[in-house]
Amino acid sequence: MAELTIRGIRKADYDYLVTVLDRWWGGPSGQRIDPIFFYELGSDALIACEEERVVGFLLGFTRHDQGYIHLVGIEPGARRRGVGKQLYERFIERCEDAGVRKLKAIAAFGNEGSKLFHEALGFESREEPDYAGPGRKRLVFTKTL
Ligand SMILES: CC(C)(COP(=O)(O)OP(=O)(O)OC[C@H]1O[C@@H](n2cnc3c(N)ncnc32)[C@H](O)[C@@H]1OP(=O)(O)O)[C@@H](O)C(=O)NCCC(=O)NCCS
Repeated sequence: MAELTIRGIRKADYDYLVTVLDRWWGGPSGQRIDPIFFYELGSDALIACEEERVVGFLLGFTRHDQGYIHLVGIEPGARRRGVGKQLYERFIERCEDAGVRKLKAIAAFGNEGSKLFHEALGFESREEPDYAGPGRKRLVFTKTL
């Protein structure tokens, strides 16, 4: 298996992710990869590569005492090989270096894979009914470092 490397996001990565996100998610999701996560918040956004091939990404940022993971995705063929876990571990290292003690992530309600993934990484999960507006519930994951 090719060696995995994790590095900061580049514009070419962002451009690529916009084109593959719907396939990686298994449904229309292009709205969710807002360019703000590259242009304004990109220093904590991480890309996982095997050789030169992008196989995963984590879009997040730190603010005050919290690290926030907005979007994480792994190429379908590269799942369950620890890529997501390694992206989180690198993000957590960055949080710890910045003195951040709390982590938060969100997912669409019903995303069972994401729920089980976050729970496996030690996050607590809860449902918030109106998180994204009336009737738009989300799964909220939290963890104290
Ligand atoms: C959720 C996701 C990011 C997980 O990435 P991954 O690289 O496959 O996860 P890992 O291999 O690091 O998994 C670590 C552990 O999490 C758990 N886990 C991960 N995916 C799981 C799934 N689909 N079902 C059950 N448990 C799962 C397992 O315990 C796993 O360890 P194991 O494989 O040794 O049993 C990936 O499936 C994905 O991109 N899904 C689509 C996008 C998405 O839902 N993103 C999250 C919301 S923003």
